[in-house]
Amino acid sequence: MEVQLRIQRYNPDEDVKPHYENFTVDVAPTDRVLDALNQVKWHQDGTLTYRRSCAHGVCGSDAMRINGRNRLACKVLIKDIGNKITVEPLLGFEVIKDLVIDMEPFFDSYKKVLPFLINDQNPPATERLQSPEQRAVFDDTTKCILCAACTTACPITWTNENWVGPAAIVNAHRFIYDSRDEGTEARLEVLNENSGVWRCRTIFNCTDACPRGIQVTNAIEQVKRTLLLNR
Ligand code: FES
Repeated sequence: MEVQLRIQRYNPDEDVKPHYENFTVDVAPTDRVLDALNQVKWHQDGTLTYRRSCAHGVCGSDAMRINGRNRLACKVLIKDIGNKITVEPLLGFEVIKDLVIDMEPFFDSYKKVLPFLINDQNPPATERLQSPEQRAVFDDTTKCILCAACTTACPITWTNENWVGPAAIVNAHRFIYDSRDEGTEARLEVLNENSGVWRCRTIFNCTDACPRGIQVTNAIEQVKRTLLLNR
């Protein structure tokens, strides 16, 4: 089928501001938006710039706005969105070129919540054991692939550069409720700051945007409740 792609372009060496360019590609209905972008890049305009790697919804590198919604280009089928497709970079962070945004501020927030297991006890002879019930408490938030779809769908991100953002909270949640971890106090300290969970207005854009189906807003609310009960 023939698909009209309207792609936001921006080359910092030539453009004062972003503009749109149109391309027509021939793809199968079961192809993904990523396949359509590859058609453009490989056969029409090699300068088109976007991140992608795994092409299977695992690496998180090809999050972008597709017909106005944050999605992974490798997970959206052409047949599900029709033959007129607008593709734009994620909102809230600086555009480096075309569909590529600067992810540094995103990863700075991620690092702030200490997204790794903290436990100063001597390790046991075998692994640190955990029951299936203890593991289930944070199972949902282990699925994050750091694509930034949630954080850049949040209106608070668009206006407040200090806001830690949904993805950082999801990754804090993953360790706060891990029975083997001892870093909860330090993480809650970060999330109780002005830039932390209290900036969330429960808009649910993050939950809608997550390509892994993580209940992001729910995770943020859990952290808020833990803060209220512990302080
Ligand atoms: S290319 Fe890896 S998630 Fe889409």
